[in-house]
Amino acid sequence: MRLRAILRFGFLSLALGLGSWGGGAARAQDPSADPVQALRIGKMLLESSCTSCHHHLRHVNGRVLDRAGWEKVVDAMKAQGAVLFSSRERELIVDYLTAKSAFEAKCSGCHPVDRALATRRGGADWRSTVQRMADMNPDAISSAEARSIADYLTAVRPAP
Ligand code: HEC
Ligand code: HEC
Repeated sequence: MRLRAILRFGFLSLALGLGSWGGGAARAQDPSADPVQALRIGKMLLESSCTSCHHHLRHVNGRVLDRAGWEKVVDAMKAQGAVLFSSRERELIVDYLTAKSAFEAKCSGCHPVDRALATRRGGADWRSTVQRMADMNPDAISSAEARSIADYLTAVRPAP
């Protein structure tokens, strides 16, 4: 079971060229250079690394933390035995969890997050939707958060 998880995760890492063995050529076409792709990869890494112990990610979903909070959790999980092959993989998982938390914290105040998750749209449309929501409550959503929430939604709810 656990060995299978390690093999699956290792294969994913290798396929994505994220391992420390990645040379200059591999890095030049690093798919995680694009922020939306980076979030999709972070999600895949989370799903392969964390589900070996957390089936259905019960401890993870619905939990809202900032970046420092997620870094602490991911490092504690590494100590528990979670397999993370490189610091880049840790960063991609933390980035994904931080963006997901920003979305869950900032987009649940006036309506449930399902209101957003029920729709799919492209990056430019998500950016303008998030901006429209932020404009209703400008103090609550910083421009950096708006960008990362729009990227998160483009990653998980892209145009069909
Ligand atoms: C080898 C098994 C294992 C793996 C893999 C694992 N965890 Fe955990 N996790 C645990 C155990 C055991 C606990 C409960 C003990 C604790 O809180 O330290 C826990 C607790 C948690 C909690 C709740 C902590 C709290 O303070 O309430 C979160 C959040 C979490 N894990 C996230 C993750 C994430 C994200 C990953 C993937 C990077 C992951 N876990 C991978 C074993 C694991
Ligand atoms: C200040 C309150 C408020 C916050 C915070 C808020 N919304 Fe909304 N949202 C609304 C209202 C009011 C509507 C219905 C009117 C409208 O569509 O403009 C709505 C409607 C929506 C819709 C359906 C309309 C459409 O464009 O498809 C989506 C999707 C949505 N919100 C996403 C989000 C996201 C993503 C966030 C977080 C960035 C968010 N909302 C945060 C008030 C809010």
